[in-house]
Amino acid sequence: MSALEIQNIRKTYGAVETLKGIDISLESGEFLVLLGSSGCGKSTLLNIIAGLAEASGGDIRIGGRSILGVHPKDRDIAMVFQSYALYPNLSVHRNIGFGLEMRKVPAAERERAVQETAKLLQIENLLDRKPGQLSGGQRQRVAIGRALVRKPQVFLFDEPLSNLDAKLRMETRTELKRLHQMLGTTIVYVTHDQIEAMTLATRIAVMRNGRIEQLGTPEEVYDHPATLYVAGFVGSPPMNVLDGVVTGEGVQLDGGAVIALPVRLKNVVAAGRRVKLGVRPEALRLVGETADHRVLDVEIEVVELTGPELVVTGRVSGQRVTACLPPRTKLTVGMKQAFTFDEDALHLFDAETELALG
Ligand SMILES: Nc1ncnc2c1ncn2[C@@H]1O[C@H](COP(=O)(O)OP(=O)(O)OP(=O)(O)O)[C@@H](O)[C@H]1O
Ligand SMILES: [Mg+2]
Repeated sequence: MSALEIQNIRKTYGAVETLKGIDISLESGEFLVLLGSSGCGKSTLLNIIAGLAEASGGDIRIGGRSILGVHPKDRDIAMVFQSYALYPNLSVHRNIGFGLEMRKVPAAERERAVQETAKLLQIENLLDRKPGQLSGGQRQRVAIGRALVRKPQVFLFDEPLSNLDAKLRMETRTELKRLHQMLGTTIVYVTHDQIEAMTLATRIAVMRNGRIEQLGTPEEVYDHPATLYVAGFVGSPPMNVLDGVVTGEGVQLDGGAVIALPVRLKNVVAAGRRVKLGVRPEALRLVGETADHRVLDVEIEVVELTGPELVVTGRVSGQRVTACLPPRTKLTVGMKQAFTFDEDALHLFDAETELALG
């Protein structure tokens, strides 16, 4: 039985349909990330699961039972928000234990749960402090602790790291992953940060305009994006997209070279079809001694060393291309450089439907 079943969930505000039928079935222990740009409906979906918003249609089941009519506090769900509203006058200890206090859990049991949670989050030494005496990252841990302590069936997180600075965000992300691996809880986590999605998720649901564009493991979404939108959203820098047309030889880029198609794609696209050819920046490498038949002749315009890699931007027959190369690669602005890539790295999308081909 699924731990969490989201069935054809719809939400309309007046005439606007914000969620257009969302279906997701989660196994116990999954870490689902809802990934999408601002306004696509991520928080709306999360709030419906939590009971903070009402669905206009569809059903949500936990352990096989519909929860739509169930009061939020009886749903066995805990939610952590972006702005973690802690009680400023209560100690960290009481902030964490507050939900248990409200549920009239006996003091001894409560104490044990708070201590155990604090230990898990490594904030035992902060229990006597007030939220105002904590850093942003510590406050976020307390907010997570407040959710953890209740041991709910499902955790919901709405952009819990977005208020933290870059370094702290990374640390807390690792911490969350460790917690999930240790506790094996079922999590639904909202973010618009694709790195967070890639690193945390067991599965990612890429959302766009109230729909799920693709639902799959991080590897599936990254290696086999189902649409041009997903290809552009997951991965940084984003996948290169080159316009062209299918010919007998392969894909003729607009105003440029012909790129041979791998066997897996040869028979799925008819000649004359307008396509977009995708190749990730990290899949590009300098042409070697052996003859390569997938070559992009790039005029280099910008070279940026980020530290771990050299990001090179240029043009191939007028179309922009980015490559991520080893940091010591010797390239300078103005030079022409031939790049190549493996056939597995080649993605093809229909120019009209923007769906992946093959
Ligand atoms: N109470 C409301 N009344 C009318 N429209 C709403 C309401 N709440 C949300 N919306 C609209 O629904 C859409 C989805 O909002 P939602 O908050 O779910 O987006 P989101 O994906 O969480 O975005 P963000 O990343 O910015 O938080 C938006 O266009 C928003 O304006
Ligand atoms: Mg939101």
